[in-house]
Amino acid sequence: MSEAGGPAVEQAAVEQAAGARWFDGEQGVSFGSPATVVHPEFVSGKGRLKPHARSPEARLDEIAGLSAAIRLDVRDRQVVKIREKSPGTLFGKGQVERLAAEVQAAGSEVVVIDAAVSPIQQKNLETALKAKVIDRTGLILEIFGERAATSEGRLQVELAHLEYQAGRLVRSWTHLERQRGGFGFLGGPGESQIETDRRLLRDRIVRLKKELEDVKRTRSLHRARRQKAPHPVIALVGYTNAGKSTLFNRLTGADVMAEDLLFATLDPTMRAIELPGTKGRAEKVILSDTVGFVSDLPTELVAAFRATLEEVIEADLLVHVRDLSHPDSEAQADDVRTVLNSLGVLEGQGAIPMIEVLNKADRLDPDTHAAALERAQRDPDILLVSALTGEGIDTLKARLVGSLKAQTQLVTFALHPSDGKRLAWLHANGEVLSTTEEGGMLHVQARLDEAARARYRSL
Ligand code: GTP
Repeated sequence: MSEAGGPAVEQAAVEQAAGARWFDGEQGVSFGSPATVVHPEFVSGKGRLKPHARSPEARLDEIAGLSAAIRLDVRDRQVVKIREKSPGTLFGKGQVERLAAEVQAAGSEVVVIDAAVSPIQQKNLETALKAKVIDRTGLILEIFGERAATSEGRLQVELAHLEYQAGRLVRSWTHLERQRGGFGFLGGPGESQIETDRRLLRDRIVRLKKELEDVKRTRSLHRARRQKAPHPVIALVGYTNAGKSTLFNRLTGADVMAEDLLFATLDPTMRAIELPGTKGRAEKVILSDTVGFVSDLPTELVAAFRATLEEVIEADLLVHVRDLSHPDSEAQADDVRTVLNSLGVLEGQGAIPMIEVLNKADRLDPDTHAAALERAQRDPDILLVSALTGEGIDTLKARLVGSLKAQTQLVTFALHPSDGKRLAWLHANGEVLSTTEEGGMLHVQARLDEAARARYRSL
């Protein structure tokens, strides 16, 4: 087979195949496109998904929120019960017909389906619904693509995107025609070009993986430098839309993007802040904002997501921010804990202390508010705040410092006997338990908290 038309065409094919932007005005669908959002509820029988603790309505809210995050104009939303997945169209025949009528009535150009949709199902549904179809993976990819801020985040997202597309090329795109006016990605290559596109995708994936390795290497250098920074690191984690960025802003006074858009943060944002410390001294800490969690993160996206969480593993304290006003607050918290657990930060050797911040206190009815406050008063690791109004923030600041202080460790220092400065410092900043002279050195055993250990390292 001849190479499809020389370098210019080849480049165009790469852009087509690798085109990370589905929502491109020139391609026919743009931000603000009218959309119908569907949450398939798998009720029983074959093809049943694992049961969810959440209500289908809450899941529908979430997918609608995610759709709005890429600025689709959500006109219609619905839960469709599925007893058995149809291999060709996911939904049953009657359901597809009903959906087609509703999509037309709403004037939707895009249908977002909150499930994994196979390439063949996607194609059939697009024909039947006369609209572009995006599945859950595609939607989250789009959000990641828009929000990735660091080079590593961008590379991870692009890689995930290419791998997602490569799977679709291999599996069923052989008989898709190049479409004009569709998504770059949905248009797909014609039969004659499939081999070329596949090879280009493969090459691009190999190149990306190498770039990613380079970026990771430089990043760990940065991190090694930062670890020597004399401040403990506090990482905010939590479900998407819990209010992490708002709390980050509240604590830092910074203008980090906080919008009612899910996933407003993809890459960790870090900032040094001062918290009121003991002995009248301000404690410097580094605050790190992280990407929001979602349930059922598509497996293709796990690596991209984890890359953004590496900062978490190295934190000295985790702050789990929760939207207590959300009906699925508990299920969301479980999801977050499950992922943190899989990162090994909740238990065992790599365990990092965590405090739980129950956010959006201003949205609670008085009874729920009182109950939450009582809970917070009983448990020192739980706080009730409103990042929006500032309620509970002073208590939180004090608790952050307290938690870092509570992490004292017994450390032995070997000092030169004439090093009175360091000895005095240890007495002032820690609890010196013993000093013994041996082999011409002074061995000092002292209890220091994380902040003091960090400061000592920088002495
Ligand atoms: P992702 O970036 O998606 O992970 O979200 P996030 O956790 O960073 O949430 P963000 O700070 O962007 O807040 C999401 C929405 O909740 C925004 O509309 C905020 O204004 C709102 N919000 C945050 N904190 C509070 C709060 O204490 N009370 C109320 N009423 N709204 C809040």
